[in-house]
Amino acid sequence: MSTDVVLLRAAGTALLLDTAGSAVPRVLHWGADLGALTPGEVAQLRHAATPTVQSSAVDTPIWLTLLPGEAEGWSGHAGLTGHREGIAALPHWTVSEVRALTLAGEPLPAEHADGGQVLVRAHDEAAGLAVEIEVRLEAGGLLRVRHAVRNTGVGPWTLDGLRVLLPLPAEAGELLDLTGRWCRERSPQRQPFTLGSRVRTGRRGRTGHDAPLLLVAGTPGFGFRSGEVWGAHVAWSGDHVHLAERLPERAGQSSAVLGGGELVRPGEVRLAPGEQYRTPWVCFAWSDQGLDGLSRRVHHWLRGRDRHPRTPRPVVINTWEAVYFNHDLDRLRALADTAARVGVELFVLDDGWFRHRRHDRAGLGDWTVDPQVWPQGLHPLVDHVRSRGLRMGLWVEPEMVNLDSDLARAHPDWLLATPDRLPLEWRHQHVLDLARPEVSAYLLDCLDALVREYRLDYLKWDHNRDLLEAVHARTGQAGVHRQTLAVYALLDALRQRHPALEIESCSSGGGRVDLGVLEHTDRVWASDTNDPLERQLIQRWTTLLLPPELVGSHVGGPTAHTTARVTDLHTRCLTSLFAHAGIEWDITSASAGELDQLAAWTRTYRELRPLLHSGDVVRADLPDPGALLHGVVAADRTEAVFAYVRLTTVPEARPGRVRLPGLDPARHYQVAVRTDFGSALTGDIHPPAWCATGVTARGSVLAAAGLEMPALHPGHGLLLHVRPA
Ligand code: DGJ
Repeated sequence: MSTDVVLLRAAGTALLLDTAGSAVPRVLHWGADLGALTPGEVAQLRHAATPTVQSSAVDTPIWLTLLPGEAEGWSGHAGLTGHREGIAALPHWTVSEVRALTLAGEPLPAEHADGGQVLVRAHDEAAGLAVEIEVRLEAGGLLRVRHAVRNTGVGPWTLDGLRVLLPLPAEAGELLDLTGRWCRERSPQRQPFTLGSRVRTGRRGRTGHDAPLLLVAGTPGFGFRSGEVWGAHVAWSGDHVHLAERLPERAGQSSAVLGGGELVRPGEVRLAPGEQYRTPWVCFAWSDQGLDGLSRRVHHWLRGRDRHPRTPRPVVINTWEAVYFNHDLDRLRALADTAARVGVELFVLDDGWFRHRRHDRAGLGDWTVDPQVWPQGLHPLVDHVRSRGLRMGLWVEPEMVNLDSDLARAHPDWLLATPDRLPLEWRHQHVLDLARPEVSAYLLDCLDALVREYRLDYLKWDHNRDLLEAVHARTGQAGVHRQTLAVYALLDALRQRHPALEIESCSSGGGRVDLGVLEHTDRVWASDTNDPLERQLIQRWTTLLLPPELVGSHVGGPTAHTTARVTDLHTRCLTSLFAHAGIEWDITSASAGELDQLAAWTRTYRELRPLLHSGDVVRADLPDPGALLHGVVAADRTEAVFAYVRLTTVPEARPGRVRLPGLDPARHYQVAVRTDFGSALTGDIHPPAWCATGVTARGSVLAAAGLEMPALHPGHGLLLHVRPA
């Protein structure tokens, strides 16, 4: 390989950068692995791919670089925008350094195919700016890129936006992203990728229930199992932008770009001379095997992190829907007793335990145990929970404050708000300005004291509002950027003091689900709806980014509190099985039969969780719009579990054959319906014979011919266990 190109390759994908000359590296290719190209082949590729010059257009070929801008003829959203007190910044970069390394930091050998990293430094003396570009192709094929800009000039420089963008080929003709709301997070929407910009902005001061999660461009009609797809995710929990843009001139080597970054408010990032701003990581993935291929790359990277949870994910009982604010020691002890009997391993005391917190109008900020409800502190409960063999977790919402709290009365100036006017209340609460060191120090002390006193194993860290008019009172500057960094720092400081502590990221359900917060926490709460049918869809799309072990899912009561839908216990259990499972229901009121069913379910979860929490997530593209099939296939493809779920009825009487994707075509398997914790094959269902006997078949047969499925009633599902024959 010549020194004027860098080829990063891993797991069937590649990024080829042209580093010749002093320009920011051009992206010659991002997508399928091209093999270990020789210098001659790269030269030929560059030659063959050189863009033509059009009439009435820029007079030289336009190539897109890692930081596209007008200086190179790109008229779309630029990589970097900003100004120096009103003077436009249109930098013309000169690269001073390009370093290509393996992921371990060694010089990158020519034939290396296990990923790698590239560090680029460039500057523009006249503009008084310098940039750093970091590119990492992880071993599983996830591509992570971030930029930093430094003010090297005289006087302050104000950032408008620093976005990470990569070129897409013309084949990417359709877009998919997610949106949603409270209790209906991560709902997909698709559209043709036409000329113009698809810009998804999040201005909620948190990731948001409507966040895109992953912005995907792909060959039209791409699905979970098919199509060539390119995806981008901004790993950030504050304001963000994801964008896909296609211009008519087919600028550069492509016709479009994909990417995003932090959304910075006017004046929010103003760099004094010498100061630097760094973007969050923007994660990209390419696959020619549809969305499941993208997920595999992200999951692989997440699972390789040092802090990825590797211990078996404990069965949780969460007290929220069981007792809400009605905390009562005897009642909670009884709940712990019943939970222990059905195999629960972690007890999480939710909202309502701290001073003045008898309802959601008071108490946030006063992180000491309410002496009226808990005269001996939480010790009697914690001791009881531990005596039953369960671990102990506690709910907190550190970033928030009620005006009716001792904290707000003592420190009204600690709020993230203009000094003269408060933003609108949301769930009767406001936001603390964590960028003030004394605020973060207070919260760290409170949390540290609680974790120490009760030897807590787990915190559920909630965040129940959007940020509105989030301004630092002292400076008047927009505050989401510093707030987000301060929250991350607080999480890290607490974890540093308590390395074994696990933290769940909750935000009125699934309002803070992103790879930024997961660098500082151990799982997410996907949604406040425990309705299993809503959850089937929410989990299907949450696992686009996150593997099941990072996604909390609880079995609620028979009537869902958020939809009033009544569902079968088997369906509720089946749904939570494919996640980090738990219970959120006053099971002291459950019948003996229901408790037996729950106990059988936790046994099944314990048996299957090593597979569920390590294998590849697969989601079938069924032609039947009323049914879902999803599963987890062991990395070595020796075993799998699938859920086949009927959400709604359809006009056809029989579902017909359903194909099981993701198995080894050459292997022989035994497929069985697992009925350990109940079955949907009762009453007037006439299941096919194999449902009772099991069936053996080759992976190729299961993938191409499929299995006849029973005509389940809506709201019911089957658990299939696929083992070696
Ligand atoms: C919102 C969360 O999503 C719920 O699970 C629960 O913890 C409540 N907050 C408590 O206020």
